[in-house]
Amino acid sequence: MFMQRCAPRPHSLLLVTALAVLAGSASAGAGPARPARHQAMLGGKPAAAVPGDNAANGARLYQSCMGCHSLGENDVGPRHRGVVGRAAGSVPDYAYSAALRKSGLVWTPANLDKWLTNPQKLVPGTKMYFSVVKPQDRADIIAYLAQQK
Ligand code: HEC
Repeated sequence: MFMQRCAPRPHSLLLVTALAVLAGSASAGAGPARPARHQAMLGGKPAAAVPGDNAANGARLYQSCMGCHSLGENDVGPRHRGVVGRAAGSVPDYAYSAALRKSGLVWTPANLDKWLTNPQKLVPGTKMYFSVVKPQDRADIIAYLAQQK
């Protein structure tokens, strides 16, 4: 059921979206969770490719990236500061796969959404094996990254 799957993690997400969009419906518990999220999406723009919407939640979700990435230092993956708008494979001192280096992609929010959905599908041969299943989570992470100039 919805309630079980979503408790307790989206509670804070619910608060964030509800505060941002429609204060009021957040306090009634799990029932309004879905409407509140809906409102957030209707009141704003499409879930993907919207920098700024749920960046606070994105900051929390970004912890799942931190096994391999940080904002300022290359690690298993390249550093992320400034990644939104940057050409893929362009951090000079990071050893990218040839596939990503030659991809010709620019990290627009839309491309980041595709990347986080399935890196191997967007760039066959990339060495990133990690994906984010939920569209809202991807949008939030991208919103967070867009703030890290
Ligand atoms: C298990 C390790 C791992 C995790 C976890 C991981 N990545 Fe990566 N990531 C990589 C590697 C390795 C690359 C380099 C890929 C290549 O060169 O083909 C990469 C590359 C990238 C790039 C391309 C950057 C550039 O300079 O072109 C982006 C964007 C990215 N990752 C975002 C994320 C985000 C956001 C998360 C968390 C949701 C994440 N990654 C989680 C390993 C990881």
